[in-house]
Amino acid sequence: MIRVHDLVKTFGEFRAVDNISFQVEKGEIFAFLGPNGAGKTTTIKMLTTLLKPTSGRVELDGLNPAVKQNEARQRFGIVFQDPSLDSELTGYENMDLHGVLYHVPRKIRIERIERLLKLFELWERRNDRIKQFSGGMKRRLEIARGLLHTPKILFLDEPTLGLDPQSRNQLWTHVKNLNESEQVTVFLTTHYMDEADRVADRIAVIDHGRIVAQGSPAELKEQTSSDSLEQAFLTLTGSSIRDESAGSADQLRQFAKMWKR
Ligand SMILES: Nc1ncnc2c1ncn2[C@@H]1O[C@H](COP(=O)(O)OP(=O)(O)OP(=O)(O)O)[C@@H](O)[C@H]1O
Ligand SMILES: [Mg+2]
Repeated sequence: MIRVHDLVKTFGEFRAVDNISFQVEKGEIFAFLGPNGAGKTTTIKMLTTLLKPTSGRVELDGLNPAVKQNEARQRFGIVFQDPSLDSELTGYENMDLHGVLYHVPRKIRIERIERLLKLFELWERRNDRIKQFSGGMKRRLEIARGLLHTPKILFLDEPTLGLDPQSRNQLWTHVKNLNESEQVTVFLTTHYMDEADRVADRIAVIDHGRIVAQGSPAELKEQTSSDSLEQAFLTLTGSSIRDESAGSADQLRQFAKMWKR
């Protein structure tokens, strides 16, 4: 369903993604794990037509997203690391708007919005504005929205960031159910190793833009003689803190952008 071959992204001299290759099979839940600044979001952006690769090949369901942008976009749903709902609109309106943008026919839109909102336990709150939603409700709505146009692949970039254990647990249960009932292939990132251990069929660990290990959770633990995935992750990626200077430069840039608006 996803094929990536020798993918590279450079920003000036800096190689954010440095020659990575991997494949994700249909119906698989694939976790992309790595420390801050490892290159996860940059990779997702290249897979989802938001960023042009410097070099390398990407195929989504047999399509090159850089060439067949619209066809590729119909095939995936995405939940961004940064929230992207319209807070002045209601839950239902956010869903409906997405359906219109993706040309989902009205009748199907109505049926599918109801099904997804019920599935993610948001139906009762559908007429509330997003600004009245809790963090967990917003995340669930973003996932429901990403699934509205019946994509074959769902990209989830840190969907559980900032959620309590109950909400995280429930969110993964929903995702797993959907993965089973609709055969959606899931590509996710998370910093919670217990989640990856529980939900992922296969994992790739990325560090400094390179894939340092791939396999099932059990295989990664075995390769590193670890009892837990967290321990395996630390063995593979070391324990030094990443990207502090780059991170704060990034924050400053974002701040400057907000200021200009
Ligand atoms: N537009 C850009 N211009 C310059 N550098 C960038 C840009 N986007 C990302 N980077 C840099 O590329 C590196 C990888 O960033 P990326 O956002 O892919 O990391 P990540 O693995 O998603 O990290 P996190 O876990 O913190 O979300 C970082 O050092 C980041 O600062
Ligand atoms: Mg990221």
